[in-house]
Amino acid sequence: MAQTITVIPGDGIGPEVTDATLDVLNAAGAELEYDMQLAGLIALQELRNPLPQATMASAEKNRILLKGPLTTPSGSGFRSINVELRKAFDLFANVRPVRTIVPGGRYEDIDLVLIRENTEGLYVGVEHYIGMHGDPRAAAESVMIITRFGAERVVRYAFEYARDNNRKKVTLAHKANILKYTQGLFLDVGREVAEEFPDIEWEDRIIDATAMQLVLDPYRFDVLVMENMFGDILSDLMAGLVGGLGFAPAGNIGHDAAMFEAVHGSAPDIAGKGIANPTGLLLSACLMLDHLKQDETADRIRAAVQTVVEAGEARTVDMGGGATTKQFTQALIRALA
Ligand code: NAI
Ligand code: MG
Repeated sequence: MAQTITVIPGDGIGPEVTDATLDVLNAAGAELEYDMQLAGLIALQELRNPLPQATMASAEKNRILLKGPLTTPSGSGFRSINVELRKAFDLFANVRPVRTIVPGGRYEDIDLVLIRENTEGLYVGVEHYIGMHGDPRAAAESVMIITRFGAERVVRYAFEYARDNNRKKVTLAHKANILKYTQGLFLDVGREVAEEFPDIEWEDRIIDATAMQLVLDPYRFDVLVMENMFGDILSDLMAGLVGGLGFAPAGNIGHDAAMFEAVHGSAPDIAGKGIANPTGLLLSACLMLDHLKQDETADRIRAAVQTVVEAGEARTVDMGGGATTKQFTQALIRALA
């Protein structure tokens, strides 16, 4: 029976890459029904609510979401809907596989997975101004929250992921040398959990040194796990190792819900031009198919992406080609046939 999923196309390039993704999913015979819903800027304009009730009701019912990027105004304005959704469904693990697709880049055959804690750390958004000497904004303060519960479940998820996916090693990246309590707790919990997985190699590394090593010698890593903000930053760095944001997929995984989205944002600079690369969202949809045990369909789509990108005729602009989103999508559909 087809699985019903909630689809949020998002804004900016979101609707363009979502259309492309659904076309490919349909052509590949994915057993899915789509419940289309609004969120973010478009929902604010049309329904005066960036996270409408109907969207939440659909997500609560279906428990599986495929989401395009949502623009988040910086500074003032509404809170990130991405963060709201992750919180609402307690999607504690953000899984970001990074694989070489376009050959001839900086590195060949990159195959890494970053697992980012998705609910705690500095991104809890506990912030305030401190007034002094008549200046109400003389200082600002932000709180990093790490709980044993939160650290343990994400580190355990990383080890289980490694075991289930035949991976050899987990690296926990942290800053426990400076942030002795918060990052220290994350590291301590990591050490404890690692003992339960003697079959998986394990190491811990300081986050800044990890960033350098990822650039110098990415092959020394396999699965990486870290706190929320560190994971946000390093996942973009890792996307850069394989040709940029256009290729990077992500799954936000909870115990009873999951949301799949590209790592990139709404790309306002190219929105509406029909040239966005839909691969990030399409590969996110493949992670969703894996999650729904439709992994054979996912593998066929991944193979089609590989074929089309290697052939080189229908590459989008960010891949150094001249194809539109539609032309690239049509090439994918032909490759699936
Ligand atoms: P961005 O990822 O939207 O764009 C960065 C650069 O990469 C731009 O030059 C863009 O044209 C290019 N790019 C991104 N995706 C591409 C694709 N699929 N094909 C071709 N080129 C692509 O990041 P930026 O500009 O920092 O953020 C724009 C907005 O997106 C912000 O409001 C931000 O908050 C939001 N955002 C939303 C995310 C989400 O919904 N999960 C994630 C990241 C950012
Ligand atoms: Mg990010």
